Amino acid sequence: MDATDVKEAVREKYGAAARRVSSTESSCCSAAKASGCDAITWNLYDSAQTNALPETAVLASLGCGNPTALAQLSAGETVLDLGSGGGIDVLLSARRVGPNGKAYGLDMTDEMLALARENQRKAGVDNVEFLKGEIENIALPDSSVDVIISNCVINLSGDKDRVLHEAFRVLKPGGRFAVSDVVTRGAVPPQVRQDMLLWVGCIAGALRDDEYQSKLQAAGFKEFTIQPTRIYTIEEAREFLSGKGVDVDALAPQVEGKFMSAFVRAVKPNSSKTVEACCGPACCS
Ligand SMILES: C[S@@+](CC[C@H](N)C(=O)[O-])C[C@H]1O[C@@H](n2cnc3c(N)ncnc32)[C@H](O)[C@@H]1O
Repeated sequence: MDATDVKEAVREKYGAAARRVSSTESSCCSAAKASGCDAITWNLYDSAQTNALPETAVLASLGCGNPTALAQLSAGETVLDLGSGGGIDVLLSARRVGPNGKAYGLDMTDEMLALARENQRKAGVDNVEFLKGEIENIALPDSSVDVIISNCVINLSGDKDRVLHEAFRVLKPGGRFAVSDVVTRGAVPPQVRQDMLLWVGCIAGALRDDEYQSKLQAAGFKEFTIQPTRIYTIEEAREFLSGKGVDVDALAPQVEGKFMSAFVRAVKPNSSKTVEACCGPACCS
């Protein structure tokens, strides 16, 4: 699949997910683990967070972490959620940054945007705006955002370098990148990797932790860390993989400890260029 095909497949998948939620059929497992629910989206938020949200925002949760629980957010800040889906993390962030702050959600899927805007209406929050667009081309000015969050979306992009460059561009100097994503660790044979990532739903493939760090560095970020939040076991994938004819027991040793949800943090440095530019003879007297 090339990047355009990936994008279309992603749009179709999440359009259908949004339609299921809108027709009040649960699409995920945020509240309770049940048959058909998956180990990735299950039980990410505590009830203190979800009780104050519209039910359809909670039902639409398709993330793999809880970036708002781990990100540092302060009153008055501007937050951007890349791939905001039904809006759960945008609504939670809006509360944290308060009436003088702003939370943007960016998503390319019309059905998800409609659901998110309906959830905003139900939640009655004003300091929120959902934007239509792609995370590879963020429709916000340079240096306009304090914190970028995202929940299980960057793995869906066929051009992760571009996403990270765009994230860097829109962050203010000193701005924080605070993202939940699926990450792999260590060497995994390509077929095993493909089977496991299919189970997790990473259509475009997840990054290995060291690749993620290299790409963050190439985009200009500093102080990056990758903190595992949920490590997947072969047992969790057994039913899915068996259904595909995979010998799960033979696979187990190659999978353990290598597929995880993680919280990825990085900082856009305060520009050193400004300091250098100010140290010529004309301005440093
Ligand atoms: C796995 S869901 C996560 C939604 C939300 N972050 C959450 O935690 O519930 C992925 C979302 O990202 C959006 N998405 C995927 N790739 C995208 C892209 N390249 N640009 C914009 N949105 C994208 C999809 O439309 C979908 O709403």
